[in-house]
Amino acid sequence: MSYQWFIVARALHVLAIVVWIGGIAAITTVMFPAMRRLESNEQKVWLFQQIESRFRPQARMAWLIVGLSGLYMVGSLNAWARFTEVRYWWIDAMVALWVIFGLLLFVIEPLVVGPRLERRLKAETAGALARIQAMHWILLVLSLLVIAAAVAGTHGWF
Ligand code: HEM
Repeated sequence: MSYQWFIVARALHVLAIVVWIGGIAAITTVMFPAMRRLESNEQKVWLFQQIESRFRPQARMAWLIVGLSGLYMVGSLNAWARFTEVRYWWIDAMVALWVIFGLLLFVIEPLVVGPRLERRLKAETAGALARIQAMHWILLVLSLLVIAAAVAGTHGWF
């Protein structure tokens, strides 16, 4: 029975990752290039804010599901020792990425970047959007590397 719950947790883990990182991939590779083609800075800022504000609750929910299902899996495998084993570095990479996103979604974005963003977007739209896009690319590439490492690690590659 507990193995069945492990499979449920693993399926939820992967589904939440699909929604979350898939959303980041779409924003980075589809929304930003489309936004660049818009004529006015007002339109660009409007589109960016519309999409980000709708995606943020999804990303937060997915982040929570990934963390809870991940911790459940570690608990049910009783695999806490893996956190200190070098060949399970990919588990530490998953957790590190999860912590980075948690800080961004719950601390840095709402408390630090958010309040200043409106002003920066108005003052220097192109530069501010270029920096945000670069940040999205970094997060996307990191996430894809961690996903590849986790799938390979789960299937005994390392
Ligand atoms: C608190 C954070 C996390 C914990 C505790 C955690 C834990 C785990 C565990 C225990 C497994 C199964 C390992 C096994 O079957 O031997 C797993 C699988 C996996 N995790 Fe995580 N994880 C976390 C966050 C993440 C993040 C942020 C990502 C990627 C964005 C990720 C991607 C994956 C992938 C792709 C798999 C493999 C699924 C499969 O091939 O079936 N995890 N994770």
